[in-house]
Amino acid sequence: MDYQPIRGTKDFLFEQSELYRTIVDSALDTARCYGFSEIYTPIFESSNVFQKTLGESSDVVSKEMYMLEDRGGESLTLRPEGTAPIARAVLSNSLTQSLPLKFFYHGPMFRYERPQKGRSRQFHQIGVELLGPQTPIADAEMIQLGYAVLQDLGLESLVTVHINTLGDTDSRQAYRNALVGYLTPLQDQLSEDSQKRLVSNPMRILDSKNEEDQKLLENAPKLHDFLSTEASSYFNEVQTLLSQLGIPFEVNQKLVRGLDYYCHTAFEFIADSKLGSQNAVGGGGRYDGLIKQMGGPHIPAIGWAMGIERLMLLLEDSIDFEEVKLAVVPAGPEQEVPAFLLAQRLRAEGLYVDMGYSGNVSKRMKKAAQQKALFALILGEDEINNGTITVKDLQSGSQQTVSSEDIIEHMNEAIDAI
Ligand code: HAM
Repeated sequence: MDYQPIRGTKDFLFEQSELYRTIVDSALDTARCYGFSEIYTPIFESSNVFQKTLGESSDVVSKEMYMLEDRGGESLTLRPEGTAPIARAVLSNSLTQSLPLKFFYHGPMFRYERPQKGRSRQFHQIGVELLGPQTPIADAEMIQLGYAVLQDLGLESLVTVHINTLGDTDSRQAYRNALVGYLTPLQDQLSEDSQKRLVSNPMRILDSKNEEDQKLLENAPKLHDFLSTEASSYFNEVQTLLSQLGIPFEVNQKLVRGLDYYCHTAFEFIADSKLGSQNAVGGGGRYDGLIKQMGGPHIPAIGWAMGIERLMLLLEDSIDFEEVKLAVVPAGPEQEVPAFLLAQRLRAEGLYVDMGYSGNVSKRMKKAAQQKALFALILGEDEINNGTITVKDLQSGSQQTVSSEDIIEHMNEAIDAI
């Protein structure tokens, strides 16, 4: 029997799980400052929640969904993203009269993609969705929130904010026609993927990573020339607000996003280096038509999601999780229980304390050093008889005898002095 994890999935152990927790906690704290509250939706949904909304021709729907039929014959899909499930939750919980709604979420998503650095089949996102307002202020605020999340993690200098507008449906349709008109005579020169997209989803050709495709696109019509006056001034207003907020950004006309529900403002947080080809740390945009498409009223909305694994890659080596740890060391079997009780006393005061379950003093001291404990609190026969504890500073090697009564105060002082 093979007990390897499924390709494209992984276990988070030790520092990795600490990093994961740090990211989620920090992002949630930031989102709370902006009035967001948490939402948890199921990790699987009826397949139709995703099929139409993300776009039949999108990569996610056409080749990446984990679909299964349950025992009752219903088609279910492991969620590839969090936006459509939240739109579904707004409808199924009758929240359409309680706008605006501000949701923060995090958790696993599933896409059958080719695994590589920064890309897996089960990956994790933090995300936010703001439902109700349709004003450039909301767009700027959501981009600002993404930037603040990166700032709080100390990552803003490693990431560039790219923004674009996809315009309204009419502008997009007109542009799509013009792009197809331009590329059709050149289709033999396009990459295989782009040739397919020319039929299924021509605007996705714009973000092709193929150099030849990009050369052909140099003289292609530009989306911004097809924008309605309204779409164009909306986008200008978003840019003005971002400048007023002091958020550096680049306008990238080739940013089209991979899911069909977007309109108007779209944006991505792109890592400048370190992540290789999977350099989008996060992305999002406006999706004003999604709830209506799902059978609800017209509710404009905007949101973004960031990949936790990609944030982890950026953060690796830059965060120090070392808690100030104490190791309680009984000198022999007689002192095991008093040492165990001492550990509980220290923990009750909020100190980080570990105690081995077996081994002689030297083994336990070695283990304490391995775990990067800063102090060992040794309890032997003499200590028990005298009501004292021997405190060894594991960095300097110095040793002190402390009365058992004063131990909490002493350790707090010693830790503060580090
Ligand atoms: P997305 O661009 O598909 O957007 O995904 C957002 C982020 O999730 C990406 O920028 C990337 O960091 C991460 N990600 C995506 N696929 C993978 C993968 N296979 N492995 C690792 N990380 C990955 C959405 O999902 C939209 N729901 C965002 C949104 C929210 N739009 C509006 N509201």
